Amino acid sequence: MSTTHTALDREKVEEFQGLAVAEAAAAESAACCYLGDVLGLYEAMAGAGPLTSADLAARTGTHERYIREWLANQASGGYLSYDPHERTFELPDEHAAVLADPDSPAYVAGIFPIIAAAWASADRAADAFRTGDGVGWHEHDPRLFGGVERIFAPLYRHQLVQDWIPALDGVHERLTAGARVADLGCGHGASTIVLAEAYPASRFTGFDYHAESIAAASKAAAEAGVGARVGFEVAAADSFSGEDYDLICLFDCLHDMGDPVAAATRARRALADDGTLLLVEPQAGDDLADNLNPISRLFYAGSVFLCTPSSLAQPGATGLGAQAGPSRLLEVLAEAGFTHHRVATETPFNLVLEARP
Ligand SMILES: C[S@@+](CC[C@H](N)C(=O)[O-])C[C@H]1O[C@@H](n2cnc3c(N)ncnc32)[C@H](O)[C@@H]1O
Repeated sequence: MSTTHTALDREKVEEFQGLAVAEAAAAESAACCYLGDVLGLYEAMAGAGPLTSADLAARTGTHERYIREWLANQASGGYLSYDPHERTFELPDEHAAVLADPDSPAYVAGIFPIIAAAWASADRAADAFRTGDGVGWHEHDPRLFGGVERIFAPLYRHQLVQDWIPALDGVHERLTAGARVADLGCGHGASTIVLAEAYPASRFTGFDYHAESIAAASKAAAEAGVGARVGFEVAAADSFSGEDYDLICLFDCLHDMGDPVAAATRARRALADDGTLLLVEPQAGDDLADNLNPISRLFYAGSVFLCTPSSLAQPGATGLGAQAGPSRLLEVLAEAGFTHHRVATETPFNLVLEARP
């Protein structure tokens, strides 16, 4: 259909064109944000007050001409404030909490390497759309793995022990007394390490099928000083070792698996009779119509490039998707034979589910 010959509502065309241009500006600027992250520009601006381009270049060992252009991009996006008289730029403290402080609960800078990794596999994704083949998690640009750790770690540091564990029946008491815990699909082990730091009487094993992630997790546990109580093993979630666990966790990984029911079934069998499964998944409603918002949009994009291809690359090829929603997730747990399962709590970013054998 040629839109030139169709009677279009010009106002609506212009309105949507404005939106499309603003979105393109944000999308291309994400590559500038990536530079701000890898070159330490946000970090150098945090708490520094107003800086000229020459100041920032000197602080970061970069070239002023490039920095001047970068600053202009960031100021036009509202990331930085600009004083036209002094020609200085400032990263407000509230923005530094989002872009430059990994300890802040609002920190989201880990998204930039994830976006870079998504672009790096865009042509591969196009092929996968045509063939229906999967793309394994391990096949992605390596910037993905550290980015995922950085984007999720603030949630685990600020919510896991404070809100999610207390929402589960009796689990805090059990971890305090000393429990055996498995963390499946643990990636770089951020969740495993947070739990180990909070519960010194408990022992933890993180499992992931991706050997490089397991190596990074072991290193991180040693650096955090919890290596003696935390082990990491390369294993798929449907065949990990050990029995009689008090708690088995799956953080943002069940939907990446080819056969989520097989993984949940193995977890049920590996739990003690009175053990608990903790399943954390991205926040979503059951219907697409519930999910037409910016957070779900971000998750759907990740699902297109990373989660769904990962699942389709594995035996089972279920393709649950990162926005499965609570009803579908509870169904997976029921199919795996869990008799008790419920949504224990939720946040704008996560659904926290509890299941018992
Ligand atoms: C989105 S990442 C989450 C990592 C980690 N749980 C976190 O929250 O930071 C998904 C993880 O699931 C792992 N994974 C995917 N399929 C798996 C499977 N069948 N068995 C074990 N791990 C798997 C990937 O290697 C990846 O580390």
